Amino acid sequence: MISKRLKTIANLVDSNQIVADIGCDHGYLSIYLIKNKLCKKVIASDINENALNQAKKNINKYKLEKQITLILSDGLTNLKKYNITLAIIAGMGTTTILNIVANSPQKIEKYIISSNNNYDVLRMKMHEFGYNLENEIVVLDHDKYYPIMVFQLKKGKINKKTINIGLYNQDNKEYYRYLKDKKLHILNKIPKKNIKKRWNIKKDIKFINDYLNR
Ligand SMILES: C[S@@+](CC[C@H](N)C(=O)[O-])C[C@H]1O[C@@H](n2cnc3c(N)ncnc32)[C@H](O)[C@@H]1O
Repeated sequence: MISKRLKTIANLVDSNQIVADIGCDHGYLSIYLIKNKLCKKVIASDINENALNQAKKNINKYKLEKQITLILSDGLTNLKKYNITLAIIAGMGTTTILNIVANSPQKIEKYIISSNNNYDVLRMKMHEFGYNLENEIVVLDHDKYYPIMVFQLKKGKINKKTINIGLYNQDNKEYYRYLKDKKLHILNKIPKKNIKKRWNIKKDIKFINDYLNR
């Protein structure tokens, strides 16, 4: 029922957290968290009422109404009173995710984020918002790679290599090989006269080689 991507996210949750599942859609992640005792309480929210109704049906099926509270909300805007300590945002684009973080009525201690695109922008902006990238796991699910990032509200440093390629994790080596092939493919398509663009891709390939040689 639950994807490898959502299972990996769930296993990053500490049991003592007050968890918000933002954009819960069907509610599978929230249900998995409670059923597997990975946390005691989840606030599952979505901007879409139809999605919430579907989540409600699924939650009722497992009789988890007491442990999972459903809230209609744009991001974290209606969740202030729950004192959320961990917000999970998965399955959305980076622009939507960053808007949710920027418009949150409280500074959330920890985020687990799985974006669909623009990972470099996500890492850089989260750093600018005061979040340190603590962990990054890449999951291969149905032939697609999904970087899952853990951010903690904490001052930290970030460099260009981490922004562009991700936080080094030796378990992600297959992903780095895939990324290198992708970058080489792109490089071959860029005309020689496009010096700046080619230079940027070459730099990324160098960063990836550094990770592969570790
Ligand atoms: C593709 S689904 C992802 C579901 C689940 N989180 C996952 O990763 O499989 C995206 C969900 O995010 C919801 N969503 C989009 N923008 C949102 C926002 N600003 N606040 C809350 N939910 C949002 C959509 O309604 C949809 O249900």
